[in-house]
Amino acid sequence: PKELGVEEFPRLGIIGGSGLYDPGIFENAVEVQIHTPYGLPSDNVIIGRVSGRVVAFLPRHGRGHKYPPHKIPYRANIYALYTLGVRSIIAVSAVGSLRPDYAPGDFVVPDQFVDMTKSREYTFYDGPRTCHISIGLEPFTQEIRKVLVEVASRYNRTHDGGCYICIEGPRFSTKAESRIWREVFGCDIIGMTLVPEINLARELGMCYGLIALVTDYDVLVPHQPVTAEAVEKMMTEKIDIIKRVIAEAVPRIPAEIPKCGDVLKYACV
Ligand code: ADE
Repeated sequence: PKELGVEEFPRLGIIGGSGLYDPGIFENAVEVQIHTPYGLPSDNVIIGRVSGRVVAFLPRHGRGHKYPPHKIPYRANIYALYTLGVRSIIAVSAVGSLRPDYAPGDFVVPDQFVDMTKSREYTFYDGPRTCHISIGLEPFTQEIRKVLVEVASRYNRTHDGGCYICIEGPRFSTKAESRIWREVFGCDIIGMTLVPEINLARELGMCYGLIALVTDYDVLVPHQPVTAEAVEKMMTEKIDIIKRVIAEAVPRIPAEIPKCGDVLKYACV
């Protein structure tokens, strides 16, 4: 850690979504460029103290939003955080809502997901070692979810649970697709970046929780389809609350959650 200019390695990582490029809540922050076997991550990693804990921060799209969802170097991002020592991730994302009672401006802390992406780098295990990771029962780490729900509820309407459908993008869904996500798949929120971020984290035995800000109703409301501008605008409106939630959640995330690493014990053949 000394070489990096920090007192200890970060055990907790924050991945910022659209609109969250600089957490602005760090004390004594240093910025490091991490090279990985999968190339460079989206941006330099910022390491610093948040509410007493050493934390790493990485903006998923890079500063200036230079990576669209389908081009994000997901493997490099997760690998970089892992090599720094990060074992738990709090992710932040903008999402659309597929149901009237999850309104723009609300937070959702999802507990399930459906993957409808099409062509990304999904795994660290491309052979010769073959591993199949279990993710079914608890794709989002319950201990992190609980903290996020408790803290976020104090500042904003927050929904505990929901199914996130991840689409390939970068275009938004058609009305017909959106109806399928809602009525056939039973999903509640929609975004473009959860997969493969969540499963790559799990492949390295990391815990993962997401706080999603609802920015729009996707195409649920006639004549008011989602726009990129509306997404950014809502993020900007809520950015201070999101930073406060992160700052208060950080010290409450357990330092070690052994079950996240345990998934690797039975994963490989
Ligand atoms: N991100 C924010 N809103 C979205 C939507 N409606 N569809 C996909 N990704 C989104």
